[in-house]
Order: sequence, then C-alpha cells, then structure tokens
Amino acid sequence: MYLKITFCSLLVVSQFLMETDCARILAIVPTPSYSHQVAFQHIWKELSLRGHQITLLTTDPINNKNLTNLTEIDLHFTYESWNANITNLIDVAQEDKLKFIRMFVSITSDILQAELLHPQVQKLIRNEDNQQFDLVLAEVLYPTMYAFAELYKCPLIGISSLEVIIAGYHSLGNPSHPVLHPDMLLPFAPPLNFKERVISTLHTAFLIMHARFLGIPREDRAIKKHFGEHFPTITKISNRMSLLFVNTDPILNVIRPLVPSVIQIGGGSHIDSSATLPQNLQKLLDEETGGVIYFSLGTNVKSGNVRNETLNAILEAFAEIPYKVLWKFDDNLSNKTDNVMISRWFPQQAVLRHPNVKLFITQGGWQSIEESIFSYTPMLGMPFFADQAANINRLVSKGIALSLDHKTMTKETFKQSILEIIRNSKYHNRVKELAELAQDQPMTGLEKAIWWIEYVIRHKGAEHLRNPAVDLPWYQYYLLDVINDEEAEDTFMDEDKPTVEEEGCK
Ligand SMILES: *[C@@H]1O[C@H](CO)[C@@H](O)[C@H](O)[C@H]1NC(C)=O
Ligand SMILES: *[C@@H]1O[C@H](CO)[C@@H](O)[C@H](O)[C@H]1NC(C)=O
Ligand SMILES: *[C@@H]1O[C@H](CO)[C@@H](O)[C@H](O)[C@H]1NC(C)=O
Ligand SMILES: *[C@@H]1O[C@H](CO)[C@@H](O)[C@H](O)[C@H]1NC(C)=O
Ligand SMILES: *[C@@H]1O[C@H](CO)[C@@H](O)[C@H](O)[C@H]1NC(C)=O
Ligand SMILES: *[C@@H]1O[C@H](CO)[C@@H](O)[C@H](O)[C@H]1NC(C)=O
Repeated sequence: MYLKITFCSLLVVSQFLMETDCARILAIVPTPSYSHQVAFQHIWKELSLRGHQITLLTTDPINNKNLTNLTEIDLHFTYESWNANITNLIDVAQEDKLKFIRMFVSITSDILQAELLHPQVQKLIRNEDNQQFDLVLAEVLYPTMYAFAELYKCPLIGISSLEVIIAGYHSLGNPSHPVLHPDMLLPFAPPLNFKERVISTLHTAFLIMHARFLGIPREDRAIKKHFGEHFPTITKISNRMSLLFVNTDPILNVIRPLVPSVIQIGGGSHIDSSATLPQNLQKLLDEETGGVIYFSLGTNVKSGNVRNETLNAILEAFAEIPYKVLWKFDDNLSNKTDNVMISRWFPQQAVLRHPNVKLFITQGGWQSIEESIFSYTPMLGMPFFADQAANINRLVSKGIALSLDHKTMTKETFKQSILEIIRNSKYHNRVKELAELAQDQPMTGLEKAIWWIEYVIRHKGAEHLRNPAVDLPWYQYYLLDVINDEEAEDTFMDEDKPTVEEEGCK
C-alpha cells in the first residue's frame, strides 16, 4: 500500500521537473553482478522515456524493445571470469581483508580490460562515427571508465549501487571520519568502541596509502594503455566529476555530512512495485498462513562457500520449525525435509512483499536489504564479504535483524534466532517504522537522480558546487602550516609572502 502511494506521487511530481533538451548520455556499469545493475535500471528507463538518448554499457541488458531511446552494449560475457573467481574471493575475504582488496582489484582489472577490448566498446573509444555525448555516468568501482568523460569532453557523474569506499568521498572533498563513518569493509556499526576506533583509523590510513601508491598509478597505466599516452592522469580526469550518486539514505545507512555534490539516491528506488508472483507461487504463499521464511544468499555466494557442517545445521533446524522455507540455492540437497522448497531463482521482490513471508535470511547485500525493509520483513543476516557484515551489524543495532556467523553457527543458535525474529513482534514493528521514515522524503531517489542528471546537463557540469577542499593541499587542510608557524605574528603582518613550506610544496 505504502509503495503504491509513493509511486503515484512520483508521477505527480515528475510533471514539475524542468524541461531539459534531449541529451546524449553514456552510462557505464561494468560490474557483472545483478544487484549493481538493477540498482540503476529504473534511471536508464526513465531517462530514455523522457526523450534522452542513452548508450548503456551493462552486463545485464534490460532488453525491452519498447525503450527505443536506450541502446545497450551487452557485456554479459564477463560473468564467466567473475564466476570463476568469486567463490575463491569470498573465501579469502573471510580470512584476510587486505588480501581481499588486492584480489578484488586484480579480478576487476581483468574484467575492465576485457570490457575495454570488446568491439563495441572499442568503437566508442576510437569514436570513428564521431558521436557526441553530453554526459557520462560511470560506476565508481572502475575509475578507468571516467576516461570516457575526458574523451567526449563532457561532465561526469559517479554512481554507486551501495555505500562508497573512502576514496570515493575524498575525491569530492567530502569528509569521512574513521570513527564516525567507518569504511564499509569494516564490520562496525557506530558508535565504535576503542578497539574498533583504532582498527578503523589504521584501515583508513591503509586505504589512503593504497590509493596513493597502488590505485592511482594503476589507473594511470590503464588509461594510457586503453585511451592513449596523451591522456591526462586519473587525478585530473576525476576532476570532471560533477556529482556522485550514492545509493544510501540517512535512516538505514551511517549518518554523515555530505558536500553539495554528493547526492543520496537510496530509499529503495530500484524496487518495482508492479512485480507479481507466478500463479503457483502465489497459491503456495497464500496457503501458508502459519508463516514462510525466504532464504537467499544472493547471486555471488555459492554453495561452495558454505561448509557442510553449516548446511547440515541449517537443514536440521529447518526440519524442526513449523514454517515453510523457500530457499534460493544453486545445488541439490537430497535429504531436505518437505517444508523446504529449493530453487535456483525466486522473484525475490514479490516473495518478500507477500504478507505471509515473516523472515528473510540474507547474506546482507544492499539491494536485498532494501527490498526486505520496504516490504516490512525483518532479517537474519549471515554475512560473507564486502559491505555485508557492516550492513547486517547496522541493522542489528537498529533492532530489525539478528546476525549469525555462518562458520560458527549451530543448529540451536540458528533455530533460536529464527524463532525469536518471527515470534517477537518488535522486529516487524521496527522495520515498518524505519521503512516509513526512510521513504518520507521530498523526492524519491529516482526523482532526485533524474533531477540532478538534467541539472548537470542544463549547466554543463556542476563546478560551482565543488567543495574547495578538493583543491587545497593536504598540509593546509590539516592546518600543518598554521600550527607549525612559530612566527605566526610575522606571517600575519606579511601575509602575501609565501612561507617556506608553501614554496617547497608547489
Ligand atoms: C524517444 O525520444 C524522443 C525524443 O528524442 C521522444 O519523443 C520519444 O517519446 C522517446 N520514445 C520512447 C519510447 O522513449
Ligand atoms: C511493449 O509494449 C507493448 C504494447 O504496449 C506491450 O504489450 C509489451 O508488453 C511491452 N513489452 C515490454 C517488454 O514491456
Ligand atoms: C580468475 O580466474 C581465472 C580463470 O580461472 C584465472 O586465470 C585468474 O588467475 C583468476 N584471478 C585471480 C585474481 O585469482
Ligand atoms: C560436502 O558434501 C558433499 C556432498 O555431500 C561432498 O561431495 C563433499 O566432499 C563434502 N565436502 C566436505 C569438505 O566434506
Ligand atoms: C543430511 O545428511 C547428512 C549426512 O549425510 C547428515 O549429517 C544430516 O544430518 C542430514 N540432514 C538432515 C536434515 O537430515
Ligand atoms: C542436481 O541434480 C540434477 C538432477 O538430478 C543434476 O542434473 C544436476 O547436475 C545436479 N546439480 C548439482 C550441482 O549437483
């Protein structure tokens, strides 16, 4: 019901959006992961219906012939190398975070190379038909792709389907404090205790050094290799970024100060309230008035990431509870009980929206969490990698989820967690409360995205919104010259004369 109301108001508000000339837009979403793609599909669809011409690089094309203004370049082939490495990557993530970062970068670099060599992408790079674009939108996980904005001499908007790593915020001069806004790879929910504050500070320092000495030089090499030796550095190209869209919101994510160029487009804007259940599933869910559990670890976590002991504990717990279970799983389980139904795919949004579904057991991917919250379903989290542990711990601190470590959980802890969430109404009540708060915004995330995209097109960028901190040398930002200046009075009298430090750094 609530979703329906918001959807109608979207149509009403849309009429008040300013007229903008039809623009040519290049959108680049390189990650072969459905959640990264689905997060933006409403935006591409809406832009094309508004008359803009969109060229979209995607691993999961929408393939809707009715969207005649949307041209898709299909990069689905990259799933092959992603799937070949993802199980290994998830296992590494749980043992060593730094090794995870290195391996992630290595895997995504391979994918990026393959995508840039795709014939249709090569055509865009060589630009033989002399195409023009008015705007590039590119996923922030692959900064090399920002080079397309330089190539077409147009503004750039960075986009992220989930929280952004610290470097993303810093590139727009947005502060990100290690104690108040721990990096999304750390499993911390504010407020942090002393040990967490120490770890978060060291982790932040590591990320900054990693970007400075490894990340940036790697981007520079990739840009020179694929776009040409004469191309500017990634630091210069990143300066084309007018805005950064982050799929977060202040109710469900960490509260942080945002500079005007960072726009939060979260609040479940990817959710399709018109999605319905196939007849057999509708009937099955209607009949299960005693309650249904939906269980999915997403598309990246595979059966190979779950230990046999864990699988057995899960099956044994399911055998002892009075609920039907729908389990999205990529393997056969011969000795499951009759109340467990296994399938490789479920229409997740529609399943979660069914009123008989009382609990979602999830790995904690951000899109899944949003779908659960906006259908008022509390969660049991079993995080595996990336932002999942941070997400789940935040939900636990907000009282809408419990969390279990899949490596140490037992049949008993699993069963008790399930029963607690389903039988204690406080989880359901709280998730409803938070969902309503998160959606009570002057504009939906989708409307905000469209408005700001057209704003950047109208003004050919948004340099006027840029935080001056981006251009300030770091020693000035941290007041090192001010604090160090023993002869402050003399300098004050003789303001125009540059200090030794300044000359040295320029
Ligand atoms: C395509 O764009 C044109 C304007 O460029 C617009 O008139 C038309 O309605 C759009 N069509 C669709 C199906 O989105
Ligand atoms: C395209 O439009 C036709 C006619 O309005 C409709 O019947 C069809 O379902 C649409 N196709 C898709 C994929 O949305
Ligand atoms: C990813 O998988 C491919 C093919 O199996 C392999 O050659 C490559 O080394 C893997 N990458 C990493 C970072 O492990
Ligand atoms: C887990 O179970 C499967 C099937 O029962 C078996 O093939 C596999 O060897 C087991 N793995 C371990 C690590 O015991
Ligand atoms: C499934 O089989 C395994 C070993 O074959 C056993 O350990 C486990 O308890 C069984 N699970 C259930 C739910 O019966
Ligand atoms: C599951 O069982 C089906 C049919 O018995 C078989 O074709 C398939 O290969 C099995 N899948 C796995 C992952 O073992």
